[in-house]
Amino acid sequence: MSIQQAATHIQNAKHLVILTGAGVSKESGVPTFRDAMDGLWAKYNPEELATPTAFAKNPKLVWDWYSYRRDLVSRTKPNAGHIALAQLEKTHPDLWLITQNVDDLHEQAGSTRLIRLHGNLAETICYNQCRGGRVPIAPSDFVWDADRTTPPRCPHCHAYLRPNVVWFHEMLPTQALNLAQTVCKNSDVALVIGTSGLVSPASELPYWAKQNGATIIEINPEYSMITRYADIVLNGASGAILPALLEAMA
Ligand code: APR
Repeated sequence: MSIQQAATHIQNAKHLVILTGAGVSKESGVPTFRDAMDGLWAKYNPEELATPTAFAKNPKLVWDWYSYRRDLVSRTKPNAGHIALAQLEKTHPDLWLITQNVDDLHEQAGSTRLIRLHGNLAETICYNQCRGGRVPIAPSDFVWDADRTTPPRCPHCHAYLRPNVVWFHEMLPTQALNLAQTVCKNSDVALVIGTSGLVSPASELPYWAKQNGATIIEINPEYSMITRYADIVLNGASGAILPALLEAMA
């Protein structure tokens, strides 16, 4: 299937929904979850660090890993794929962009109709959620021990602080998930970009759209769990394909 066919579907979409995963940020220099890690972190598997059990066992290790990721992400910029997605809001002001990513590259590119399923790496919350829910705590309020051998503590209850991301085995934010499910069920075109489709419930969203009659367009250089039921598969990097799609729509 060609970019032109995909562009025509997107152009004619009445209810466009987009789901992004780590692949969309790859060309900005953010490693995906399935990439091997570099340097100090090479011996760890992200799936073993991004869990409540890992934090309970070694809070400092998990805190440091997220500090490393936060630092890495803070030095990146949106790529041509993020920018093309933000531009799609001009032709489709009612679109919804659902992301599994915890970076803020979609916002930086100018996307406003964003649903975050897995939280925000830039934010920090109390491990005990002592004030109810995931309430962000500003770095100026962190309580550190003298030699910083543990994560900082909550200024309200003294529990450890943790990143505001959804770990494996944790619930997704209910409001975000409900909205994502609704917009997928109501969509007529779903554009699925840079996700392996391995992590539920986000991986089920394109399927909800498909079951309700939407055309599924996938952008991914590799085979994914979405490829087997996508109507159009555009094999390649999103930083190249998304601008080409926009050009084909012009
Ligand atoms: N353009 C588009 N897709 C790409 C690119 C690229 N330049 N480079 C890689 N990809 C694809 C890969 O082929 C793969 O299918 O991006 C996908 C990345 O897959 P994952 O690393 O599994 O990322 P994702 O699907 O977002 O993971 C879901 O799992 O670990 C959790 O919470 C974490 O949000 C994450 C979730």
